[in-house]
Amino acid sequence: MASDAQDTPSSLPHRHLLDLSDYSAGDIRLILDTAREFRSVLDRPIKKVPTLQGTTVANMFFEPSTRTKLSFGLAAGRLSAETISFSKSGSSVKKGETLRDTAENILAMKCDMVVIRHSSPGAPHYLSRVTDAVLVNAGDGAHAHPTQALLDVLTMSEHIDTFDGLHVSIIGDITHSRVARSNIQALRTLGAEVTLCGPRTMIPPQIEHLGVHVTHHLDEALDRSDIVMALRIQLERQDEGLFPSLREYHDRFGITTEHMEAHPDLLVMHPGPVNRGVELAHDVVDHERAIILSQVTNGVAVRMAVLYLLAPGRQTDAAE
Ligand code: CP
Repeated sequence: MASDAQDTPSSLPHRHLLDLSDYSAGDIRLILDTAREFRSVLDRPIKKVPTLQGTTVANMFFEPSTRTKLSFGLAAGRLSAETISFSKSGSSVKKGETLRDTAENILAMKCDMVVIRHSSPGAPHYLSRVTDAVLVNAGDGAHAHPTQALLDVLTMSEHIDTFDGLHVSIIGDITHSRVARSNIQALRTLGAEVTLCGPRTMIPPQIEHLGVHVTHHLDEALDRSDIVMALRIQLERQDEGLFPSLREYHDRFGITTEHMEAHPDLLVMHPGPVNRGVELAHDVVDHERAIILSQVTNGVAVRMAVLYLLAPGRQTDAAE
């Protein structure tokens, strides 16, 4: 999928990536174009470029992560940046050290960029106000997961000609999903139509003001869709009464092989981790039209692009 070069800037007018609310279609296209270039690096025998030599990236993960943590670490390494990695377990957070003090001590080791995942919405915004580092949000509570949405739209772009008129359905617990929120922002900015589908208990009231369509019927969502994105059911929320049982959730909102047969062009995405047999039937996870592992591969390329474009000294003067 080619970008409209006329509307694509050559650098980002942002100092941080906190969410996608102030990223224009041109900004997103620049990230996607840059990621495509880095994606080709990942297929070379030597998967490394010297682009960020001399830059130090601190990966601060206060919440569990497999994909995001590993791919940010790999992305920084592929760009020849140095990295330090922090996980909440085993750290001095257990001794009562605050987020700000933890960050300031890590930055005192002379880090240029901070990648942060935290359970509190707004934690990356807070650190962007109280430290000098470039901040990249790797997921903050139910608020935002911007690099997930960017890798998702990059993956979609490999299968489509244009986002104009593309129809994407997001199925599941929208209320608690930072992935849904960031994907709505990215997809609407690029001109795609978005349908949200799930139990009434999992869809915030009046979310239509974001320019999305809402349905509680999976068949209606799939009938409208070129691409369906299933969200992880947060098993830790089972006691909140959001749905009667995992089996009933799967019966009403799980994507099955019958759905795949009824919609022969439908592509299936999932941010991971997948609960096999809940959001997606076991065979759908491994279906030829499930592009879940492409999402993971593209995650490295997108995170390389974000680190490269936000590295100190690269942004335009308009950056905050
Ligand atoms: N998609 C995603 O954020 O996965 P992780 O929690 O494993 O990073």
